[in-house]
Amino acid sequence: MRKSVLDYILRIYLPVTLLIVVATYTVTYFVSREERYHVGYAPTQPINYSHELHAGQMGIDCQYCHTGVTKGRHAMVPPVSTCMNCHQVARTDSPEIQKLTKFYNDDQPVPWKRVHKLPEHVYFNHSVHVNKGLACQECHGQIQTMPVVAQVKPFMMADCLECHRTAKEKFPHLVSLTGLKNGPENCTACHR
Ligand code: HEC
Ligand code: HEC
Ligand code: HEC
Ligand code: HEC
Ligand code: HEC
Repeated sequence: MRKSVLDYILRIYLPVTLLIVVATYTVTYFVSREERYHVGYAPTQPINYSHELHAGQMGIDCQYCHTGVTKGRHAMVPPVSTCMNCHQVARTDSPEIQKLTKFYNDDQPVPWKRVHKLPEHVYFNHSVHVNKGLACQECHGQIQTMPVVAQVKPFMMADCLECHRTAKEKFPHLVSLTGLKNGPENCTACHR
């Protein structure tokens, strides 16, 4: 009798419990990892602005709005005045453009929700990457096809390092065109 209870515990109960523990841990790990990656994050924005329309169909250059990309750390989201260059006249009948115009007239910034965000302890600089010829799409995906911006690529340390190690192999044309080098792998380059 005692032997068979022990036998039951060892042969069935224990393996089943272990399996459940491992399965729960694995699922939690991958779910929270996805969240940390932020892949798929696409918040609803206060104005229904579409990159597909403006950057895709209308072909407005990214840098017309994101003026910081060649100059420093931040790409910068444009002020309402940039939009009003066109929307003083374009589609003033649209409720979304009326909302936009109200921000402009009230001298208030549009409270855009940030999509891509590294932790505070990481240093990243757009200009170093963009001036060496790396396309926005390498890191942000096909933004010009997105009605709503979503993060499509993970920005984990391993992803930065993967490109830093292989940049010269991956972008041989940029090596001759802009003198692109491999990126740094030492800790202090990205953690200052
Ligand atoms: C007419 C102005 C305009 C143009 C042109 C434009 N953008 Fe944007 N972009 C915005 C605005 C406004 C936002 C903030 C709202 C949003 O996320 O949709 C934004 C947001 C973004 C974001 C997300 C920022 C974050 O919070 O992480 C990325 C990435 C981006 N743009 C890349 C691009 C790329 C790449 C192009 C060219 C293919 C481009 N944009 C062209 C105005 C513009
Ligand atoms: C170079 C000119 C230009 C700039 C700059 C521009 N837009 Fe537009 N936008 C247009 C035009 C033209 C349309 C209408 C396209 C159509 O209806 O076919 C439009 C359409 C829109 C619409 C859709 C309106 C609707 O209800 O259908 C929104 C919203 C919008 N723009 C927001 C913005 C915001 C926000 C910015 C600044 C970040 C911006 N636009 C910058 C030209 C521009
Ligand atoms: C090498 C990868 C890489 C390239 C290339 C790149 N970005 Fe980014 N971008 C990032 C990262 C990483 C962040 C988050 C930065 C942070 O949180 O400090 C970001 C954030 C942004 C943001 C929001 C925050 C900010 O910096 O203003 C915008 C807008 C943006 N990128 C637009 C662009 C545009 C437009 C281009 C092309 C001209 C571009 N990016 C090229 C990696 C890249
Ligand atoms: C698509 C490739 C690519 C990705 C992705 C990428 N980098 Fe880079 N990075 C480069 C290249 C190439 C260089 C070196 C450019 C040169 O000096 O020619 C570089 C240089 C740097 C530098 C040194 C220059 C400086 O600003 O001090 C830092 C820091 C850096 N990257 C941080 C990051 C971080 C953080 C990430 C991830 C969020 C990242 N990079 C993602 C390609 C990439
Ligand atoms: C090319 C840029 C880059 C380099 C080089 C780099 N890191 Fe990171 N590191 C990141 C980014 C981006 C993150 C945030 C995303 C993440 O947690 O993976 C990060 C996160 C971390 C974290 C926090 C991890 C967590 O779980 O929160 C630690 C610790 C760390 N790095 C240590 C290091 C050490 C040690 C080195 C040198 C051997 C190093 N890093 C080199 C980009 C870099």
